[in-house]
Amino acid sequence: MKKIAIITGATGGIGNEFVRQILQYELDEVWAIGRNEMKLKELCNTYGEKIVSVTADLSEISGIEKIEKMLSEQRPEVRFLINNAGLAKMASYKEYTREEIIRMIDMNCKAPVLLCNVCIPYMKTGSNILNVSSASAFQPNPYINLYAASKAFERSYSRALNVELMGTGITVTAVCPGWVDTELLPKELNGKTVKFPGIVTAERVVRTALRDAEKKRDMSVCSLYVKCQHMNVKFMPQRLVMKIWTSAIRKYIRE
Ligand SMILES: NC(=O)c1ccc[n+]([C@@H]2O[C@H](COP(=O)([O-])OP(=O)(O)OC[C@H]3O[C@@H](n4cnc5c(N)ncnc54)[C@H](OP(=O)(O)O)[C@@H]3O)[C@@H](O)[C@H]2O)c1
Repeated sequence: MKKIAIITGATGGIGNEFVRQILQYELDEVWAIGRNEMKLKELCNTYGEKIVSVTADLSEISGIEKIEKMLSEQRPEVRFLINNAGLAKMASYKEYTREEIIRMIDMNCKAPVLLCNVCIPYMKTGSNILNVSSASAFQPNPYINLYAASKAFERSYSRALNVELMGTGITVTAVCPGWVDTELLPKELNGKTVKFPGIVTAERVVRTALRDAEKKRDMSVCSLYVKCQHMNVKFMPQRLVMKIWTSAIRKYIRE
């Protein structure tokens, strides 16, 4: 039976790095999922014949069903499921269209949950699910509110699923990086250069996440900066945490 890894958001900054680093494991195929066909082709050219590119919009149920069908036809062992695809927007609630709201919830919440349920029957002892949440899951974050709330959902879901799966040998790790140097968020907003304190590389996030998954940790936090944030927000009143966050972010926002 062939062993595979499934990586969503493989065409993005962190996903591309997951594809690169996952090849160190004994795998027959890496199913790289994304919508951008040009970037998927580039992945195949860069990383070789083990990469199976899958074009799918995961905010649509048909995208999930495409992967489900491939699994039921090929019946592989899923060694890794990496739910990494995600959408973000830094803006006031007024700046969201109804379609954007639905798409973000579908992409960041619905898709990872559905993919977990689709893939778990094909997993064995030693398999790993890595759900890429965010440090924004640690507290409510005005002006990146919907994104942060969706990531809190993902983190909470992942940790509880990990408990439900105890005894199966399958580990679920919620990956919670702070700012990562990718194209997810704009570098400039309303004429101002956005500052991303504590920003790290995708290489470091992925290296730490895979190491933490191997150690069967239910959470992966990759830098001292984010570890301190995680600790601080546990002890500080949430109103104060939101006040500090809001004062740093408001200057970029059109209200
Ligand atoms: N960058 C950060 O500061 C940061 C911090 C914490 C957590 N994260 C999380 O890390 C993950 C990866 O983000 P990134 O920084 O690598 O962002 P990115 O470079 O913008 O990549 C996002 C990926 O998501 C995919 N995607 C978006 N909508 C999709 C859809 N409807 N269907 C299928 N795929 C879709 C994109 O693929 P296509 O364009 O091909 O559709 C792309 O591969 C996200 O979950 C994000 O929330 C990022």
